[in-house]
Amino acid sequence: MKYREFARTGFKSSVIGMGTYYDFGWILTASLFRKRLNEQGILKSLNTGLDSGINLVDTAEIYASEPIVAKAIKGRDRESIFIATKAFPTHYRREKLIRACEKSLRRLNASYIDLYQLHIPSRRVPIAETMGAMEELVDRGLIRHIGISNFSMSGMLEAEKSLKKYKLTSTQMNYNLSHRQVEKEILPHCEENGIALLAYYPLGHGKLAGNSDGSNTVVMDIARKHGLKSSAQVALTYLLSRSESVFPIPRARTPEHVAENAQLGESSFDKDEISKLQSAFPSADA
Ligand SMILES: NC(=O)c1ccc[n+]([C@@H]2O[C@H](COP(=O)([O-])OP(=O)(O)OC[C@H]3O[C@@H](n4cnc5c(N)ncnc54)[C@H](OP(=O)(O)O)[C@@H]3O)[C@@H](O)[C@H]2O)c1
Repeated sequence: MKYREFARTGFKSSVIGMGTYYDFGWILTASLFRKRLNEQGILKSLNTGLDSGINLVDTAEIYASEPIVAKAIKGRDRESIFIATKAFPTHYRREKLIRACEKSLRRLNASYIDLYQLHIPSRRVPIAETMGAMEELVDRGLIRHIGISNFSMSGMLEAEKSLKKYKLTSTQMNYNLSHRQVEKEILPHCEENGIALLAYYPLGHGKLAGNSDGSNTVVMDIARKHGLKSSAQVALTYLLSRSESVFPIPRARTPEHVAENAQLGESSFDKDEISKLQSAFPSADA
């Protein structure tokens, strides 16, 4: 596994992280019946990742996965793991955000959150109020860094302007080979300003991991050349090759997948390979 400083935090993060969103049905069962399906399997996957050197874990208050993350990090050196979680817009008012953060901390069984992100923009709560509360949380030592997710370019600029004491550390966006809109404005802005871009759906929610049967010759040629095992490894390496600001967070549910993802970081594609992949995967949104 390769490590890079996560934005300007001083934390050396694995270039690949682990996502912990397990679909709507899973969340519903966990929230309504307190039953986390396949909890042991998920725990094994997270432990596989942590044992293999992945030290970046993404969760959210609405994923219902914070308690599993708590179990995975128990007994490990807390300072060596970067935990990113998210607040939902229903909690963007100052007092609600503080309460939501305290609840996430309890579920994570942690004294601080490394990266607290606003899950999606709110149409109701002014960003200045939410960012003010975020800065208070940093001052109180409950969170270390502030992030956003699913914000447009203009929303991101507004979020940055609303921060008076601290800089925005990251944004989290849908970014993969078939969905490359962020490459236009958001990624260059991140690079210029030392902001990390957490790439969610890095495997297109699994779609980009499904053609290792040789159906896409461009992918398989590039995989062979770089000694990569699968189309999933090619899709993730594409993101890592595009920019040092990008940290893909594929979902961690199957230990074998996590182990495979943890091997990445050494290969990088050149311009020609990047453009061949871009032609093979016309971006749905570019
Ligand atoms: N900010 C947001 O609004 C937002 C929205 C969605 C997701 N996210 C975050 O992003 C994370 C990733 O998104 P996602 O889980 O929906 O999509 P994804 O990571 O693009 O795709 C997940 C799928 O890829 C499979 N997979 C993972 N590694 C693989 C490998 N090496 N080979 C073959 N298949 C592999 C997974 O299977 P297994 O599960 O069996 O391993 C799963 O079916 C989430 O877990 C969450 O933390 C954020």
